[in-house]
Amino acid sequence: MKKTYYITTPIYYPSGHMHIGHTYTTVAADTMARFKKLTGYDTYFLTGTDEHGQKIERSAQEAGKDPQTYVDEIVAETKVLWQQMGIEYDDFIRTTDERHVKAAQKIFRKLYDNGDIYKGFYEGQYCTFCESYWTNTQLKEGKCCPDCSRPTELVKEEGYFFRMSKYQDWLIEYIEKNPEFIQPTSRANEMLQNFLRPGLQDLSVSRTSFDWGVPVDFDPDHVIYVWIDALSNYITALGFTSENDGLMQRYWPANVHLVGKEIVRFHTIYWPIMLHALGLPLPKQVFAHGWLLFGNDKMSKSKGNVVYPQPIIERYGADTLRYYLMREMPFGADGNYTNEALINRINSDLANDLGNLLSRTNAMILKYFNGIIPPMGKVCGEDQTLIDQVLNLPQKVEEEMDALQFSRALSEIWKVVGEANRYIDITRPWVLGKDESRKDRLGTVLYTLGETLRFISVLLSPFMPSTPERIYEQIGVTDAKVKTWESLERFGALTHGVMIERKEPLFPRLDVEKELLALAENTQEEEIADANQAPEQQSIKPTITIDDFDKLDLRTAKVLDCKAVPKSDKLLKFTLSLGNETRTVLSGIAEHYNPKDLIGKTVIMIANLAPRKIRGIQSEGMILSASSADDSIIKLLSIDDQLPHGSIIS
Ligand code: MSP
Repeated sequence: MKKTYYITTPIYYPSGHMHIGHTYTTVAADTMARFKKLTGYDTYFLTGTDEHGQKIERSAQEAGKDPQTYVDEIVAETKVLWQQMGIEYDDFIRTTDERHVKAAQKIFRKLYDNGDIYKGFYEGQYCTFCESYWTNTQLKEGKCCPDCSRPTELVKEEGYFFRMSKYQDWLIEYIEKNPEFIQPTSRANEMLQNFLRPGLQDLSVSRTSFDWGVPVDFDPDHVIYVWIDALSNYITALGFTSENDGLMQRYWPANVHLVGKEIVRFHTIYWPIMLHALGLPLPKQVFAHGWLLFGNDKMSKSKGNVVYPQPIIERYGADTLRYYLMREMPFGADGNYTNEALINRINSDLANDLGNLLSRTNAMILKYFNGIIPPMGKVCGEDQTLIDQVLNLPQKVEEEMDALQFSRALSEIWKVVGEANRYIDITRPWVLGKDESRKDRLGTVLYTLGETLRFISVLLSPFMPSTPERIYEQIGVTDAKVKTWESLERFGALTHGVMIERKEPLFPRLDVEKELLALAENTQEEEIADANQAPEQQSIKPTITIDDFDKLDLRTAKVLDCKAVPKSDKLLKFTLSLGNETRTVLSGIAEHYNPKDLIGKTVIMIANLAPRKIRGIQSEGMILSASSADDSIIKLLSIDDQLPHGSIIS
């Protein structure tokens, strides 16, 4: 029987479009699942959406939709995105699926029947945004939530509680005895020190303050707390509590739950305790990866610093984005997303290193052997050095993958790409090609290069699922048997005598300036739109000090001119007078105003916002406006004309 491998992503909140951060985890899980499949495992890959809770209920309300319609739409577009990204999940679980709702209810009842869940009263400081109660010692200044810094409210409710404290010593011992369970190890220490050793509180596991959730079936005024509902997806998807639980028998315990570092606590404290209370074994590992940051800050829609994958996929293809995500930062650490780093990776690793290796090999086989793959003749020392490195590569990649070190696995592959390029420089096939008596030697060199590219392609297939086929075309690989992991046991499986053709370059070199401009237009127009939106949640943003406010230089400004920006539906270009200077400012309100009507008005602008280029136009500030939650109404802030232009607002 094949060994099994079960991998999961968090189930994402469908409260907005999925961005590059969600894409990151999903690509990592897909890459790992594909790698395990390649290496012979019976693999199961689960992803999905976490659809209940007050946040979603509110987002739906703000969008003027009922929650189910709202989440259905986002789930549909999420599935399209995953397809575009080449994500091949085995199952997509939604917490609104009937199968999940029934199973979550049974799990809750079972825990209640066993005495792990009891009914009581709870009073405490509650953060609606994080859906968490906090103790006074955990709260930040001003009774603010320690996670999101938003103000908490005093809430009292009747509810069900989970006896977490009962399992605390068991869990401490488990974590200490199983160092592989929480990775990276620093996260295990954090959990022990910050939460487990100080002592666990019983967890409030039901809510009566809203309806959009799984009802407790024996007490329907209560809905199940969203994290209990959500975490159980990892087993309800496998059929737990149903009669049809074959997948559960086959794949549980999971090999790894991939999660972002902000949800480690839920996955390494609440989830193991729930499982243990249900009499189930724990997942073998919870791996907490870092955050993709934008401008050194966590991406969030309300901050307007979100990068979406679609424009990148459209311009460079999904494989390129997958490569960048898996290569750029070590799995476990944070890293900044920048368009520059993306373009540089494409140019250096993909166009220069890999693309050139392939085009040089392909061109020389065409030139010297009329496009027919030559046989491999006698092997010399310089061939053997490369061949040894190529033969060692699969094992090195496997070791890194088993440690979920995607970036290091790719770096091992690229070492060999580099070696192969150097091998061309050393063996100088263009010199061999001038001497008919050295044709066999030339054939061996070119065969060695083709075979090296075959190894590289097989090993790249989990990372970049469409690229290997494009490489195979150029080195004459058609037989599925030589695209397998097993075919990497020996050097020499590439079939000679096969005819190849010239193809388009694999990854054309990009003009950095041009691409940066194009990408900036994409993200910044999005940002302008976001800046005009009400924050994702209607709750008040974290407290700031008067010094924070003082950093803003708000001024009155007279609109001297206002025009639509060509080829943009959203942007208006303003010429503004600040009294002693004139500014150009773009604003994303074209759908709401006729530009002519704005000329002569006095508006309010942020005068010290860093300038940025949008559609090739430098915007030197931001005009303030207010908007309804669904953005259907946007109104510019303006005041009467009695003050001089450029007056300070404080
Ligand atoms: N619904 C919960 C998870 C329940 S799992 C039982 C949730 N959803 S979420 O939509 O907020 O998704 C959070 C996850 O998305 C992170 O844990 C991470 O996997 C991924 N990411 C979202 N933003 C990210 C970055 N900026 N960087 C990296 N990953 C990020 O939490």
